[in-house]
Amino acid sequence: MKGRIRIDFSNLLSDAVGEEGLDLAEWERGRPKAEKVLWQLQRERAEGKHPFLDLPYHRPDEVLRVAEGLRGKFDPLVILGIGGSSLGAQAIMEALFHPFFRFQGKAGEGGPEVLILDNVDPSTLSYALKRASTGDPLILAISKSGTTVETLSQLLAFLDLLKRRWSKGWKERVVVVTDPERGPLRRFAESEGIRALPIPPGVGGRFSVMTAVGLLPAALVGVDVEELLLGAVEMDRAMKEGEWNPALFSAFAHYRLHTQKGKGNWVTLPYSDSLWGLSAWRRQLIGESLGKRRDLAPTPLTAVGTTDQHSQLQLWLNGPRDKVIAFLSIEGHPEVPIPDVGWRDEEVSYLQRKDFASLLEAERRATEFALTKGGCPNYTISLKELTASVLGGLFYLWEVEVALCGSFYGVNPFDQPAVEEGKRVTKGLMGKEEMRGKREEWEGWWRDRRLWRWPE
Ligand code: PA5
Repeated sequence: MKGRIRIDFSNLLSDAVGEEGLDLAEWERGRPKAEKVLWQLQRERAEGKHPFLDLPYHRPDEVLRVAEGLRGKFDPLVILGIGGSSLGAQAIMEALFHPFFRFQGKAGEGGPEVLILDNVDPSTLSYALKRASTGDPLILAISKSGTTVETLSQLLAFLDLLKRRWSKGWKERVVVVTDPERGPLRRFAESEGIRALPIPPGVGGRFSVMTAVGLLPAALVGVDVEELLLGAVEMDRAMKEGEWNPALFSAFAHYRLHTQKGKGNWVTLPYSDSLWGLSAWRRQLIGESLGKRRDLAPTPLTAVGTTDQHSQLQLWLNGPRDKVIAFLSIEGHPEVPIPDVGWRDEEVSYLQRKDFASLLEAERRATEFALTKGGCPNYTISLKELTASVLGGLFYLWEVEVALCGSFYGVNPFDQPAVEEGKRVTKGLMGKEEMRGKREEWEGWWRDRRLWRWPE
């Protein structure tokens, strides 16, 4: 891992950002207590309470076997899942394939089209259904509970299509990833004899990227998932063996900057279009894990450089000083020159004979400089290049950071009670039998609204 991921925390400190930053002496004072929190996490890990921490050590044999049998035999790959069941795969593919993956969904040159459906927007679905009505679709339904309405309803739509196209062979075109024993998806797979991979017990959705949830979609389109896991193993070891643990320092700094300096908005700011998915993954990890207290919960935000310099930077610089910004920068960009086309104008000529990687990095450094001078704590994670192993390392680092933050904030980072309530009401409104009594009451809530109409 040496130097593949480097983290420069200097700009979180008061030495760099003045009174808006963290005093190094405070870290030294708080460190023994913080290390107890880390020790407690590792102790609970040894007791088997946090299986997500050991996921990278499990060989992904089943994932590889299933992927091997299917690779190259389908196009498109349709992934049905939401939240923790889709964001990891999205982040991996966006980072490792085409930067336009988010819009085009193409898994590399000659790779299949990948349609990740994490919504029930009928417009998106009708495109995906149309696309799957020709070619050789493979439907991968991912849901830990197996009861999530978005995923189940999407699956129903695709099952109907598959059964109509292949009255006999439709089962070959479905794979599910779900709980090893429970839930309707598991029952469906067992009764129909459909390939099903398990999500190990005790691993929550947003901590499951290193199970079949994230690994199977990735392996199906040729990502080296063993490399990804190895990156996480190396990060685990580096964090344990290093002089100090970056996840612990980062969690401590974020918590202190929040509680003492009011910096509860945490922005992930990659200078890379390919890392938008990774920051969306981190946003969910922070939001669902730490959003548990009315009086104190960080708000995760996502942005992309340089795009958001022309959208949010004004607010960050002159607005409330309530943010901590995590820059991500990639060193190994492809070389794209800015050519000299003979345009002699002082507003233009200085750009010619440079290249886009230097421009991107100059803009990142300029933003870092301006934020630091403006008293906004920030730090930079530099990635030597964007590889599966680096992604594995980052996933692991941030999972540990959030788990530690959970202890600092005094919340359970592994549940999501409020999300579960929304899921229950949706099911009631859609007519689920056991919630029929409640439905009337819930529907009444939407009557007698004050409406404004245009045109009248
Ligand atoms: O992190 C979580 O637990 C959630 O975001 C879930 O992943 C999400 O709600 C989807 O749940 P399921 O995988 O049960 O369909």
